Amino acid sequence: MTRHTLHLKAPGNWINDPNGFIYYKGRYHLFYQYFPYAPVWGTMHWGHAVSRDLVHWEHLGAALFPTRYEDQNGCFSGSALEHEGKLYLYYTGIHYDMPDPANIHTCLNDEFTASQLLISSEDGMYFDNFSGKRVAVPVIEDENMGDRKDTRDPKVWRDGEYFYMILGSTYRKETGCAVIYKSKDAVNWEYGVQLRSERFGRILECPDLFKLGQEYVFMGSPMYIEEDAGGYEHHAVCMPAEFDGEAGELKLPEQYQYVDYGLDLYAPQTNVDREGRRVMIAWMRMPKIVEEPGEKPWIGMMSLPRVVELVDGHVYFRVHPEVEKFFEQEYSVLGEKELKNAGEISGINIEEYPYRVQTKLKEGEILNLGGYKIWTERGFVKADRSEVFAGIGGHRLVSTTPKIEGECCLDIFVDKNLIEVFVNDGQYVISNVVYGLRNFVRGRVEKIWEIWQ
Ligand code: FRU
Repeated sequence: MTRHTLHLKAPGNWINDPNGFIYYKGRYHLFYQYFPYAPVWGTMHWGHAVSRDLVHWEHLGAALFPTRYEDQNGCFSGSALEHEGKLYLYYTGIHYDMPDPANIHTCLNDEFTASQLLISSEDGMYFDNFSGKRVAVPVIEDENMGDRKDTRDPKVWRDGEYFYMILGSTYRKETGCAVIYKSKDAVNWEYGVQLRSERFGRILECPDLFKLGQEYVFMGSPMYIEEDAGGYEHHAVCMPAEFDGEAGELKLPEQYQYVDYGLDLYAPQTNVDREGRRVMIAWMRMPKIVEEPGEKPWIGMMSLPRVVELVDGHVYFRVHPEVEKFFEQEYSVLGEKELKNAGEISGINIEEYPYRVQTKLKEGEILNLGGYKIWTERGFVKADRSEVFAGIGGHRLVSTTPKIEGECCLDIFVDKNLIEVFVNDGQYVISNVVYGLRNFVRGRVEKIWEIWQ
């Protein structure tokens, strides 16, 4: 087991959004926003990792890097498509108006242009960055179509005889919007429509639109939706949607869900897995660099892969069967019996991460996982990381789900810097980044009984 088992982490230095997530030629490919030179955000590359099972990941270094005028200041987020046996990657090329001469990884006036680029590969391993790139959608100059600067993150899919590309954008920096293009060959793109919505914040990032059976789900990361969000103003949301590609219409409901009820999950991306399930993976924002002996300092990691399902208008995020298999075959699950005898867990190497805990919580019970506390309060599931987030200011410490009815069944995944709590088979998930989790020597899990007033 390596530290990239179960959760993919930065191989050193900086990572953010998952990009180009796809099952292609017998393997899962997960690309990601990557700054390979320092543990800070900078000129974006696409890092590349592969896996046979979504659980064991192998890093392959940088796949995409700036080479052209259009992407000279970064290869921003995008997606993958298999077409005629080839792997097509679509991404946003960034060109700064004025790079900072003192640090070319940043720009002086926060002005830049965005174009949508395409690069294809015969095998998903080799990418010709020097002569294999082409512009799929040039810089948009008309604000009624999109924004010259903030139009990005192409998500491409096929439906019948058309390919569609959805982009995140903004109308006058006031209203977030999605921009949709259409294509017959996945190479030449025709402008379709600009769709503004209050649900998209002021700028929309990383939109995703996909079918579950006959219904559509919209997922995206609107910016500035919570002015006082306890650390971040931008959050990933999802909702059932009605989409008519021919007519270029997208209808969204009034209400939306958060993709996750912790604070840190952002920029999710979905695709279908080997068996055709819709799977989501997302970036876990980290406020602090991790420094460990023998490792390059790193910052940024991915969530667990989650199966997305729509039941009666509610979006569920379930534990992926490959994760189930991993815990059944290779790893321990702590159940009710072990929790009751928390002091007597034996045969578990306490240095080994991650671990999984499955239990039911009643009102008044608190589950304490190395300092991370989970409980239910009048039907709301809550998690408090104050003991395992020490010294990090300005971030919300207590997370809560919407109210649940009936029983509270928890399926919890604990990794050194991330705890993911699946409530009632993925009805809601709370994921939070943690630092300095205590490793209980006499059993890592305590269930404390307390009486609420
Ligand atoms: C979301 C995002 C994307 C952009 C990328 C840049 O986290 O801002 O919109 O493409 O990150 O790294």
